Amino acid sequence: MTDEPMESVRATHEGTVAIVTIDRPKALNALSRDVLEGLISTLAALREQGAAVRGVILTGEGGRAFAAGADLRAMSSLSPADAAELAHLGHAAADAIEAFPAPVIAAVDGFALGGGLEMAMACDLVYATDASHFGLPEVHLGLIPGFGGTVRLPRLVGPAVARDLIFTGRRIDTAEAVAVGLVARRFPDRDALFAGARATIDAVAANSWSAVGLAKRVLTSAAGTPTSTARGLEIDGFEDAFRTDDMHEGVAAFLEKREPRFGV
Ligand code: CAA
Repeated sequence: MTDEPMESVRATHEGTVAIVTIDRPKALNALSRDVLEGLISTLAALREQGAAVRGVILTGEGGRAFAAGADLRAMSSLSPADAAELAHLGHAAADAIEAFPAPVIAAVDGFALGGGLEMAMACDLVYATDASHFGLPEVHLGLIPGFGGTVRLPRLVGPAVARDLIFTGRRIDTAEAVAVGLVARRFPDRDALFAGARATIDAVAANSWSAVGLAKRVLTSAAGTPTSTARGLEIDGFEDAFRTDDMHEGVAAFLEKREPRFGV
């Protein structure tokens, strides 16, 4: 559907941090099928590496965009059935991000629009430069969000702000995105953005790998469920923590007034 090369997502490693880059800068990193499939396969390969990857930074190449949405050029000729199939693929990519066993930080420097914002919202945290813009502009195109926007945006910002942003399709800057709870931290430039994301992953990596994984499992599986279900999921996770060596080591270290030595 596009003439882009297959390699539109790449992963590099800096110690235990993996940097996953959407690499179609000429199209503002628009999410072609190749990009969506590349995200899924890249995250699956990183997942295989277990605790060697303590966190992922997801970003866009080129300094203008994280991703400017689904690929409108490719979408223009889709049938309704093709569109549903594309939406399934977009959801699968977002789910792969959400289910990744270590924290994933979206490092946004530029536009995060439509499907691009939907991928960012599937991350555990969104960090952004002051030069960034966010929005779900699908209604400007006669569309609606298709890669999770109607699901994840209300969870992050509440139903009122989500309806405002989805019905108007308006773009907001980083300051407003922080104010509504979409962006966790803002940075003056790209270097500071990456330094901040790496520092967060390093801080998380100093903790118990199994405990962070359990916390993510519970947070992700409980999102959007009724309180009674969420409570049960937390109790299951709390119980599972007591099956880990790290829990016994962490509590013993506290009682013995020493630093814990976690398993990985
Ligand atoms: N798909 C395909 N190509 C895109 C694209 C997209 N979503 N967004 C930008 N591009 C391409 C442009 O076509 C252009 O390519 P050419 O140079 O070959 O013409 C190139 O990227 C640069 O874009 P602009 O010239 O438009 O750059 P700009 O600085 O003038 O504007 C922008 C930047 C405001 C982000 C503008 O490109 C824009 O509005 N893009 C579309 C944003 C959008 O509507 N996203 C939602 C898509 S629908 C969706 O995502 C549905 C869903 O939920 C799954």
